[in-house]
Amino acid sequence: MDRLRIHGQQPLRGDVRASGAKNAALPEMAASLLSAQPLELDNVPQLMDVRTLGALLGGMGVSVARDGARVRLQADAVHDCVAPYERVKTMRASILVLGPLLARFGHARVSLPGGCAIGARPVDQHVKGLQLLGARVDIEHGDIVASVPDGRLRGARITTDMITVTGTENLMMAAALAYGETVLENAAQEPEVADLAALLNKMGARIDGAGSSRIRIEGVAELGGAAHRVVPDRIEAGTFLCAALATRGDVVVRDCVPRHLDALLDKLRDAGAEVDCGDDWVRVRADALPGGRPRAVSVRTGEYPGFATDMQAQFMAVDCVAQGAATLTETIFENRFMHVQELVRLGANITIEGNTCVVQGVERLSGATVMATDLRASAGLVIAGLAAEGTTVIERIYHLDRGYEAIEHKLGALGARIERLRA
Ligand code: EPZ
Repeated sequence: MDRLRIHGQQPLRGDVRASGAKNAALPEMAASLLSAQPLELDNVPQLMDVRTLGALLGGMGVSVARDGARVRLQADAVHDCVAPYERVKTMRASILVLGPLLARFGHARVSLPGGCAIGARPVDQHVKGLQLLGARVDIEHGDIVASVPDGRLRGARITTDMITVTGTENLMMAAALAYGETVLENAAQEPEVADLAALLNKMGARIDGAGSSRIRIEGVAELGGAAHRVVPDRIEAGTFLCAALATRGDVVVRDCVPRHLDALLDKLRDAGAEVDCGDDWVRVRADALPGGRPRAVSVRTGEYPGFATDMQAQFMAVDCVAQGAATLTETIFENRFMHVQELVRLGANITIEGNTCVVQGVERLSGATVMATDLRASAGLVIAGLAAEGTTVIERIYHLDRGYEAIEHKLGALGARIERLRA
């Protein structure tokens, strides 16, 4: 298994480009199942998860052709509405094929995604919503076995028990081809949901309200093809901005959407960074911090537009080297502190109290060997390693490769001393 070796304390300086958002590209690739016409996606990040979903769709009979950041998909010869366990267990987002398969083909067998490092992550709300749309859903031998007895899904008013991002996306895609109107109350407002809706409308869907907590979908009989550019990855962008602050550098992230980062940018300013924004770029300057270190800032994660749970580990790494103490409260997942023990190995002073961590900033971290446990925990360890004195080796970085495109090259271009050690 590959590892990353980082020689810390190099301030990051320069420009870096954000890639397309993994969490938009995945549902948008799944949306190809809704039409027999070709779907052309651009700005698709080159990630393990994108390759995994491409292979899953290919196994169903979808043609998937990749040319750099462009992916062309066409579901005009689907022969298999099955997402097997071997595929789903490597990527939970495979659940996103369920809604489209049911809506277009009227049946699907999708393995129940197991839990993952950060939590149980059930999909009961996906199932509840599809049943309200008229699907019959049984769980058989670990698979979700779904069908549409009436031949076509029928619109419904759906209020999920909690806000769910992929739940909202699955139900929005299913409703796009249902008979009649569907209203999703309590919908997720993440930019990736709005970007998916923009693609679906280009395909001929009739969706409004995406990006708000109430989405209305007027079903149509058929959807066509479309061309779409995937929205920039706000989490990747935020990761680089946190790295700039933790290393007291000066970084511009280009090709991003600053307004998608509002909650994070407020916290970076509170920590003492100088933050400037343009139409499609954000600059964080932290090379003249009072006292030479960030101020400790507390964070409570929440659904968008709140502070993203996917940025919690990265911001914790900043608090680890800040002046003062801060709390980080995780409200979305029940076990998203797997990075804490690894940060402690680097000399951080962190205690866990239920769903809250108390971080007492230290003068400096010291490099060590640490282990990645999940995608965003890995990103937090990279930031801590970049700030630490000496050498940090991060093991099991396949977690990182799931969500960050060529991260060692992007960070290296900013002056980091970082290299991938091939297994
Ligand atoms: C999406 O996961 C993202 N993944 C996650 O990003 C992100 O952390 C998460 O949203 C929250 O923002 C993709 O978009 C592919 P949820 P998702 O359904 O949709 C509970 C990353 O790092 N829940 O919004 O799976 C659930 O357990 C990944 O890129 C149910 O109980 O998250 C959680 O506590 C990690 N039943 C909460 O809701 C359900 O049916 C929010 O989960 C659905 C969810």
